Amino acid sequence: MTIVGSCLDVSIGILVSEEFMSNRAGRTLMPQDSLVIQKGLDNVYVCESKICYIDSANSRLYYRGYSVEDLIESSNYVATCYLLVYGAYPTAAELSSFTRRLLGYSRLPKPVYDFLEGLPKESDTMDDLRTAVSMLGLYSYAGKHQTQAEKMEDGLRIVGAMPSIVAGLWRGKQGKSVLEPRDDLEFASNFLYMLRGEIPSTSDAKIMDKFMILHAEHGINASTFSCMVAASTLSDMYSSITSGIATLKGPLHGGANVEALRFIESIADPSKAKDSVDKALDTGQRIMGFGHRIYKNYDPRYRVLKAIGSELSQRPGGSELFETAQAVEQAALERLSSHGIYPNVDFYSGVVLSMLGIDPGLFTPIFAMSRSAGWVAHALEYLEDNRLIRPKAKYTGEIGLKLSL
Ligand code: ACO
Repeated sequence: MTIVGSCLDVSIGILVSEEFMSNRAGRTLMPQDSLVIQKGLDNVYVCESKICYIDSANSRLYYRGYSVEDLIESSNYVATCYLLVYGAYPTAAELSSFTRRLLGYSRLPKPVYDFLEGLPKESDTMDDLRTAVSMLGLYSYAGKHQTQAEKMEDGLRIVGAMPSIVAGLWRGKQGKSVLEPRDDLEFASNFLYMLRGEIPSTSDAKIMDKFMILHAEHGINASTFSCMVAASTLSDMYSSITSGIATLKGPLHGGANVEALRFIESIADPSKAKDSVDKALDTGQRIMGFGHRIYKNYDPRYRVLKAIGSELSQRPGGSELFETAQAVEQAALERLSSHGIYPNVDFYSGVVLSMLGIDPGLFTPIFAMSRSAGWVAHALEYLEDNRLIRPKAKYTGEIGLKLSL
């Protein structure tokens, strides 16, 4: 079988173009009519990778061989970031120097602080983030860096700068002064400090750290692939990550947790959940935070976030939202689970962030901030054995039209 543009050669696991297949077999091109299109690149393997393994059958997720549950239990975001980018878990000495390095990168160039403080109130926070990361590149001589080491340096600069940018853009939009990080706080704690203007409780900082580990990586999804496509052209890291941010913005990808929370909040009362879910599905709407291209069963990240949500619901005033979310989940499962549609990471992530007092406008930027580690790791890994990513489309238009001027 000849497959157009994005064909899956399972035996070697790479993307193969139809000319390549034809030349290899010594055949001429098949007529376009017989070409098969892999819509959405579903099930197409584009490279080998040692970064992430998604065991969808058993609902398990591994970063560099370590289960995400173990990392959440015994590690922290900075060590996870080191693991993803360098490929090995850091020693105590490596972690200490890496932590200092990221802290250094979390101090932004002055023009970026000025930009954050001048942001319009109405602009979209993902647009703010995308522009700020792109702008950061202006002060790091982006585009001139060519070696892997220099690209890694740029990538880590972005990872280190992300919490300052995300917290800063929010404060800037509220007309508040943008805060610099403190030397005495850990990464996730510093983010909450720069966002709220006060040192967070140990419990809040721990929850944020877990949240960031959970969102740090998830294989070659749309935004990661977008970063890899940009990297494959030998563009710079700022451009690659900016492209990932732009791709994550969409409601089918990073924006789903905002929509999921809005839906749950609009119901407000657990006893109305079933009617609302039925009405939504009967009118052709999707339940946001449900369904996944890879998982046709529970997303392992959902379980962790639901447990965190349950913990947070024990706090004063925290139970109503969580109870409604659980009722929506139950009602949606009754309708969708038989189709292999289960809650994904986004169903409880908005609920958790909301219970931490974080505005929905920051949900997707916080996702991007956490995912920057995975984006950088994949862009660097792909570049180690780079081949320009260039799929094709089956042409269905006309040819030979004449201009009659
Ligand atoms: N609610 C209701 N129906 C759904 C849902 C849902 N959440 N998800 C999929 N379906 C249905 C579709 O309507 C479609 O039905 P049909 O065959 O009768 O037309 C069928 O399931 C297949 O849907 P696709 O969109 O083709 O499946 P895909 O594997 O591409 O879907 C996706 C993955 C885009 C995530 C989808 O499940 C969805 O839109 N979910 C809601 C948005 C969401 O939660 N996104 C976050 C994903 S996780 C992340 O990116 C971090």
